[in-house]
Amino acid sequence: MHIINTVSDLRTVIRAWRIAGQSVAFVPTMGNLHAGHLALVNEAKKIADRVVVSIFVNPTQFGIGEDFESYPRTEHEDQAKLNAAGVDVLFQPTVSDVYEPDARTVVSVAGLSQCYCGASRPGHFDGVATVVCKLFNMVQPDIALFGLKDFQQLAVIRTMVRDLNIPVEIVGVETVREASGLAMSSRNGYLTVEEKIVAAKLYQSLCIAREAVLIGQQSYQEIEITALAFLQESGFLPDYFSVCRASDLKKAGAEDKELVLLVAARLGNTRLIDNIYLSR
Ligand code: PAF
Repeated sequence: MHIINTVSDLRTVIRAWRIAGQSVAFVPTMGNLHAGHLALVNEAKKIADRVVVSIFVNPTQFGIGEDFESYPRTEHEDQAKLNAAGVDVLFQPTVSDVYEPDARTVVSVAGLSQCYCGASRPGHFDGVATVVCKLFNMVQPDIALFGLKDFQQLAVIRTMVRDLNIPVEIVGVETVREASGLAMSSRNGYLTVEEKIVAAKLYQSLCIAREAVLIGQQSYQEIEITALAFLQESGFLPDYFSVCRASDLKKAGAEDKELVLLVAARLGNTRLIDNIYLSR
């Protein structure tokens, strides 16, 4: 595996692959890799000749008082995992490689970026869209893979790619869960042993709500209220629980068939998110 830090070195390697007619899949990450990231890499290996993974803890997607400074950085372990997974290039730029000191351009996907996580984390999705757009321009992949766990992030990126005619195919990969149901996340590392047991109830809240939707016994608003109460009783400080239309994340109505249940809640100092997609 080549470890590359600069855009010009990255372009040299990718140009040679292109000349050889090879396709390129890209997995952007912020490091602290877990089984969820490795599932993205494995999928990437199946669908392209070459796989590039980036590790970049992107400052512009963290708000004031969020965990940018303390975000887990595990460079050596990450490199060993990616090497073992058969990644071709690890692109690991510094902040100054990615952002000009007087950068003025921001990519903002209106509407989708302001609701749910965007409402509690103002500017977060502008930071995500901007860095992903820049990384796409640096890597110029054929395909890019993202976890379905960050469902809203995936919707923002799909919309950006469509609106800006970025020639990359976006692939969403199924969430990897621990045996308890807890979705794999780098932020799970912040949880204490006791909190980790409680954290599994986030997925449980989604499963209970899915059952209620499928049985068709309650209004979606009642389902949301029941789920929020369940989370509160379990020890969370819920942010939102929403039954949405999968296509545009608007509130689902009785006529909608493809739904996604979105949840975010704080447990102690850790903010957790999860979702379930369902078709009725
Ligand atoms: O999902 C992430 O890890 C990040 O938001 C991403 C897509 C790598 C952009 O920094």
